[in-house]
Amino acid sequence: MEFIAKNTDILKLKTQCAVVFALNNKLLTSAEKIDKTHHGVLSKALKSKDLGESLGKSLWISVPQTSKEQPYERLLLVQLGKPAKAKTTDIKCESWRKALVAINAAINTTQAKDAAVYVDDVNIHESTESTLALATDLALSAEKSQYRYDTTKNEVKLPVLKKMTLVTSDMSAAKRGLTKGKSLGCGINTTRELGNLPGNICTPQYLADQAKSLASQHPKLSVKLLGEKQMEKLGMGSFLSVAKGSDEEGKLIIMEYKNAKNATAPHVLVGKGITFDTGGISLKPGAAMDEMKFDMCGAASVFGAMHALVEMNAPVHVVGIVAAAENMPSGRASKPGDVVTSMSGQTIEILNTDAEGRLVLCDALTYAERFKPKSVVDIATLTGACVIALGSHATGLYSNDDKLAENLLAAGEKTADRAWRMPLWDAYQKQLDSNFADMANIGGREAGSVTAACFLARFTKKYKWAHLDIAGTAWQSGAKKAASGRPVALLVEYLLNN
Ligand code: BES
Ligand code: MN
Ligand code: ZN
Repeated sequence: MEFIAKNTDILKLKTQCAVVFALNNKLLTSAEKIDKTHHGVLSKALKSKDLGESLGKSLWISVPQTSKEQPYERLLLVQLGKPAKAKTTDIKCESWRKALVAINAAINTTQAKDAAVYVDDVNIHESTESTLALATDLALSAEKSQYRYDTTKNEVKLPVLKKMTLVTSDMSAAKRGLTKGKSLGCGINTTRELGNLPGNICTPQYLADQAKSLASQHPKLSVKLLGEKQMEKLGMGSFLSVAKGSDEEGKLIIMEYKNAKNATAPHVLVGKGITFDTGGISLKPGAAMDEMKFDMCGAASVFGAMHALVEMNAPVHVVGIVAAAENMPSGRASKPGDVVTSMSGQTIEILNTDAEGRLVLCDALTYAERFKPKSVVDIATLTGACVIALGSHATGLYSNDDKLAENLLAAGEKTADRAWRMPLWDAYQKQLDSNFADMANIGGREAGSVTAACFLARFTKKYKWAHLDIAGTAWQSGAKKAASGRPVALLVEYLLNN
């Protein structure tokens, strides 16, 4: 989609769909202006309560197509509800986001190819750069609302909106915001698409090809691919113990985006990319096993974040590492009791082949040491236990560095892509004791999400590290089954601020 900022008047801008607002029982300036040219039809809709009084209600206003003074084909009146502070035009950030969801849903029911949004003097209450925030969320919301999964479906109706104009006097902030929101939206949609693709299409090789294609479009992004032979040379016995059960070759995908003003050490993202998780020899039960195609959503969020950063030409240095493999039972698969040696030299007793995420991640995390990173954040659909602990609202956050944890929590709060910090105390470590190796790959029934993080912590002592368990947040189940695109917004916000 195309987004533009314009400083103009509602009676002058030609558009297929003008969007105007009511706030605190009053029409805002642009709405008021056209109310006069249409014999008070907008104020009547407000007074009669046809519009509805709650935030996000909207009403299509029929306007005769005759007047010369009327350059819009459709007119949408949107209710912003009550202001955040009495007697102001300040609204909460959350309210603006809710209104945008409603606006996009309404526009997407029409055949309008473009729309113009008249924010007038609306301010985002929490923001010191209100126009930037308004514009970012406008573009982000519109871009996200355009996404439909249609790759393996016939006859999906795609929205027709191609262009959105934000009408404002604060042009420079609006332009920056629109670019940021659009790029973030594109990144989030990339993550959703990769997550939604079935396991027979989205294989480790498919992910590797995605990385190559992303790099071919952006000169500041480079890619390195490691196959199983190369990983053997590096001693990645843990990663390979998962990959070897499958006919699909495991891949370590390394993307580097280098666009910082000065030569600086990179921030590293590491994504779990299990393109399908059957559980291996410790086979999962059949119910809802199809959802284990989403077990590469951590990897997908690394792709999405990289995509967003290059799209907005962000001045940052970021390395994205994806550990891609398929977890299958077979004659070559690992068995419970097998002991493998990780790249770090530590040995692991595989007591359950379904705890495979940590096995591929630990070697990718050791590989990350070579970048001398400022920080490393891994993102993984790691444990069902995290879903039990936090449900689908918060991502589980673990970190060996308080400042890093704070920064990630703040980024999640700001983008409504929230995380919640969980403990990484030493007291949990002994649950990983093994009689036959340096550690076991499972820690028993209690605190399953914590012991998984404790396992990873043994491989991340050399740098500032955080782990995001997105098992509950990466996708929705049921009738709305689909990848959510989380936590791309959190990651991008964190990387832009640090
Ligand atoms: N990919 C799963 C975790 C998962 C399960 C995410 C359900 C979302 C929904 C992971 O590989 C796994 O199987 N974890 C096991 C670990 C256990 C064997 C210690 C789990 O959570 O049951
Ligand atoms: Mn598993
Ligand atoms: Zn898994």
